[in-house]
Amino acid sequence: MDLNTKSGRDSFSSKFGVIAAAAGSAVGLGNIWKFPYITGVYGGAAFLFVYLGFIILIGLPIMLSEFMIGRKSKRNPFGAFKNLAPGSSWKFVGLLGVLAAAMILAFYGVVAGWSIDYVIRALTNSFAAKSPGELESSFTEFIQSPITPVIYQLLFMLMTMGIVIVGIKKGIEKYSKILMPLLVVIIIVLDIRSLTLKGAYEGLSFLFYPDFSKLTADGILSALGHAFFSLSLGMGTLITYGSYIGAKNNLTKIALQVTVADTLIAILAGVAIFPAVFAFGIEPSSGPGLVFITLPNVFQQMPGGFFFAPLFFILLTVAALTSSISILEVVVAYFTEELNLKRKSATVLATVLISIVGVVCSLSMGILKDYTLFNFNFFDLLDWISANMLLPLGGLFISLFVGWYLGREKVVEELSQGSSIVEWLVRIFIFLVKFIAPGAIAIVFLNGLGFFSFG
Ligand code: PFF
Repeated sequence: MDLNTKSGRDSFSSKFGVIAAAAGSAVGLGNIWKFPYITGVYGGAAFLFVYLGFIILIGLPIMLSEFMIGRKSKRNPFGAFKNLAPGSSWKFVGLLGVLAAAMILAFYGVVAGWSIDYVIRALTNSFAAKSPGELESSFTEFIQSPITPVIYQLLFMLMTMGIVIVGIKKGIEKYSKILMPLLVVIIIVLDIRSLTLKGAYEGLSFLFYPDFSKLTADGILSALGHAFFSLSLGMGTLITYGSYIGAKNNLTKIALQVTVADTLIAILAGVAIFPAVFAFGIEPSSGPGLVFITLPNVFQQMPGGFFFAPLFFILLTVAALTSSISILEVVVAYFTEELNLKRKSATVLATVLISIVGVVCSLSMGILKDYTLFNFNFFDLLDWISANMLLPLGGLFISLFVGWYLGREKVVEELSQGSSIVEWLVRIFIFLVKFIAPGAIAIVFLNGLGFFSFG
C-alpha cells in the first residue's frame, strides 16, 4: 500500500493531476511577468540562450532529484532530509527552502495583487485611448500608492490560503487541471496579435538573435536564478509535491513534461511581449512594469481587446495562484509535520506572517522606497536574495545529496517506477547531478558575486 494512504497523508489522485499541479506551480508570474522583464534588462536573446542551457543541464536533473527525494521520504523538505539522512545536517537544506519559500511568497503576492488590479482596470475599460506613456505613468503611480496595492495583495494571500486549507485533491489539483490549459490558449491569441503588429520583426530578433557580448556576470547569475525560480526548484516545492505523487507514476516523464511546458510558456510570453514592446516604442529594459505597460497597448489595438484584456489578467492571477499555493504548501507542510500544528492553524499562521513581510515589500515601491540595501529596495532585495542566492544554493545541495549521498541503488529504484529503466539515462542523470549541476552552480555563483571572473 502507498505510504501516503497508509498514514492518511493527502496525495494526488491522477497522473494528469500531478502534471497539472506541478506545471501549475512552475508556470506563473515567473514566466509571464519576470521572464520577459529580466530578458529585457539583460539584453535579450543571449540571456535566453544561457537560460535555456541552465534549464537543460541543471534544472531538469534537479527537478527529478526533488521529485525523488519527496516521493522516497513522503515528507516536507525539512522532514525529507531528516528521514533520508538521519542524524546529519542535510535537514538544514530543507529549512533553507522553507525560508526561501516565505521570502518568495512575500513579493510574489504583491505582483499578483497588481494583476488583480489590472483585471478591474480591464473590466472598466480603463486602458482605452491612453498613450503608451500614459499607461506607463498610471502603472508607476499605482504601484507607489500605499493603499490599493496592499489591499489586492492581501486579497490574493487570502485566496491562496483558502485553497491551501482545502488540501491537495480538492484544492490544488482541481483548480490546476482546468485553468492552466486556458491560459495557454489566451497567450497564443496574444502571440498572433503581437506578431502581426507593424515592427514585430525587431522584437523577435531581440528575443532570438543573440549578441553574446551583451552578457554580464550578473546576467548569467540571474539566468541561473531564474531557471530555478521558473521551474519552482531549490526550495523544496517539488520535494513537497513529490511526496504526494503515487508509486505508479514515472518521475522522469513528469519532470520532462513540466520542464517543456514551463519553458514553452515563457517563450510564448516573450513572443507576445517583445514585438509589442518595439512596435509601441517601449523600452525593453523598463523592468518589473514591462508586462503591465506593454500588454494594455496590445489589447487596445486588437479586435476583441475589451474581451481578451480581463480574461488575460484573470488567467495571470490564476497562474500566480497555482504557483503561490505550491509555495505556501512548503511552509504549511513544514509547520504541520515538524511543529505539529493542525493544517488549518498552520495555513493561517503562515499566511499572516508572510503577508506582513509582503506589505513591507509593497510599500517599498512607494513610501519606503528610500530604504535600500546594496541599491535594492526591500522588494528587489527579497527577489534577488531568494532567486539568485537561496534557490541556487538549495539546488546545489539537492544535487549533491542525490549524486553523492543517496546512492545509485535508490536512484535506480525511483527512476524505474512506472516504466522500464534505460541504463544510459541513469548514467547521464547521475553524471549531471554529481558533477555538472553542482559545478556549474558553484562557478556561476562565485562569478556572479564577483569572487572571480571568467568573462
Ligand atoms: N515557478 C513560479 C513562477 O514561475 O511563477 C514561482 C515559484 C513557485 C518559485 C514555487 C519557486 C517555487 F518554489
